[in-house]
Amino acid sequence: MYQIIPVQPFDLVLFGATGDLARREILPALFGGFCVGQVPDGFRLAGVSRSRLTDEEFRTLARSAIVDARSAAAQDHDAMRRFLSRLEFISADVTGGSGWEQLAEWPRRDTINAYYLSVGPVVFDSIFARLGNLGMVRPDTRVVVEKPFGENLASARRLNRVLARTFKEAQIYRIDHYLGKETVQNLMALRFANALFEPVWNARHIDHIQITVAESVGIKGRQGYYDTAGAMRDMVQNHLMQLLCLVAMEPPSAFEPDNVRDEKLKVIRALEPVSSNDIVRGQYSAVKHVESYLSDAGNVLSTTESYIALRCRIANWRWAGTPFYVRTGKRLNTRKSEIAVVFKNPPHSIFGEEEAPRNNVLAIRLQPDEGIKMHVTIKEPGPGGMRLTEAPLDMSFAGALGPDIGRLMNAYERLIMDVIRGNQTLFMRNDEVEAAWEWTDAVIASWQAAGVGPEIYLPGSEGPSSADRLMDHGRRWRGIADG
Ligand code: BG6
Repeated sequence: MYQIIPVQPFDLVLFGATGDLARREILPALFGGFCVGQVPDGFRLAGVSRSRLTDEEFRTLARSAIVDARSAAAQDHDAMRRFLSRLEFISADVTGGSGWEQLAEWPRRDTINAYYLSVGPVVFDSIFARLGNLGMVRPDTRVVVEKPFGENLASARRLNRVLARTFKEAQIYRIDHYLGKETVQNLMALRFANALFEPVWNARHIDHIQITVAESVGIKGRQGYYDTAGAMRDMVQNHLMQLLCLVAMEPPSAFEPDNVRDEKLKVIRALEPVSSNDIVRGQYSAVKHVESYLSDAGNVLSTTESYIALRCRIANWRWAGTPFYVRTGKRLNTRKSEIAVVFKNPPHSIFGEEEAPRNNVLAIRLQPDEGIKMHVTIKEPGPGGMRLTEAPLDMSFAGALGPDIGRLMNAYERLIMDVIRGNQTLFMRNDEVEAAWEWTDAVIASWQAAGVGPEIYLPGSEGPSSADRLMDHGRRWRGIADG
C-alpha cells in the first residue's frame, strides 16, 4: 500500500538527549523509522547531555522512552536490540569545555551528519561556536533546531544571525512538527493535485475559513516556558500560522523547498494587522478535580492566555473579503485540529425561505481520525415534499487507506528522514520565521495597548463565550466536539 524508501546511513548527534522531547518524540520516531526499514542499520546516534550516563544506561533510558511512546512497535525485540546497539552516549557540557574532544572525534567523515538541538536557545551560541571551532561542520552537515525559535522578532533575528555564523541557510532545519503531519501535507495534495478545488478556492466562493487546534490537556509540567509564551506564541505564531499559509497560498510552481516557502512567506506578508476587536484571549479556571491555569502555572497573578481566537484578513486578490478565524486553547472539551472551509450559499434558493440550503463545508481533520469531510445539502429522504438536510461525504484516511496509515502519520519520523534526505520543504526558512514574528508581535502589541485581558473559561468547554462576537454576519464557530 505504501512505499518505504530508506535513507542513507547517517550519524546524528542529539543534544538534550535525556530531555523530555528526546524521550517523547525523537527517540521513538527514530525507532519507528528503524522498524519499517527507513532508518538503515548503518545509522548511529550519539546522545549528548551533561548527565554522566554510560552507553548502557542511555540505552536503557531510550528503551523505556520507546516503550512508553510506541508500546506496540516496542514488542519487536530483535529490532529493539539492533536499534539500541547503534546508540552511544557522550557526556558533554555544552557551555563548558568537557566532553567536546570526544564529540569532535565521533562523526564519521564519509557519512551524512546532523546535529539535533533539543535544548533551549540560550545554549545555541556556545554549541555553534564549538562546532565551528572544532571543525565539526562540513558543507553537507545539517542542523536541526526546535521551537520556540525566539520569543519575538528581535530574538528570532538574533538566533538567525547566530545560526548564520556557522551554517548556511541550506543546512538549517527549523522544525514545526505540524508540517510533518500527514494531513497537513495532504492539504497541499488536495489543493494542487486536484482540479476540483482551485476554481472555487477564493473569496468569491468561500465565505470564511476556520482553523481550530483544540487540546484537552493543561499546561502543568511546562509552566515555566508556557507562562512566558501563552497560546499566541506557543501555537499561533508557528503551527496555526503554517496551517493558514498552506490553505491560503498560491500554487507554487514546483513542490520544491524555496518555491513552497516563497508562497507561504507571501501569505504572511499579506496578513493585515489585527486590531484588538479581532482578539479574544482566555484562561481556564478550575472545576472539580481540575486545577485552574493560575494554579497550574504556579503564578496567581498570571495574565497569560491559554486560549486565543483571532479574526484575520489577508490583503490580496484571492482572499479580500474572506475572514480567517483561528483559535487554539488548552483544557477544551476535546482534542481536535481541523481546518474548515465554509463555502458561500447558492445565490438564490429555489426551495423557498424555509428550505434554505446550508453552507457547504469542507472539513479537513488533522487529528484525531485524520481525514476529509464534505458537508453537502441533500434532500431529506422520504415522501411528503422537498425538505433539505445536511449529509457528510466522509473520508477517513484509516478507512480509505487501511489502519496502518495511523503509524505512518508520525510527524517527527517524517521530518527527521527529510533532514537526512536534505529536503527542506517542510521546514521554515529564516525570512518566514521573522515575518511570522513580526505579525505576532503586532498582535500582542495591539492587545497590550487596548488592555485585552484573558477571560475565564471552564475546563471542558469550548473556550470563552465572547469568541462568538468575532463571528460577524451570522457566522458561527463549528462545535469543537462535533464530528
Ligand atoms: C507544541 C506546543 O508545539 O505543540 C504544545 O508547544 C502543544 O503546547 C503541542 O501541546 C501540540 O502538538 P500536537 O501534535 O499534539 O497537536
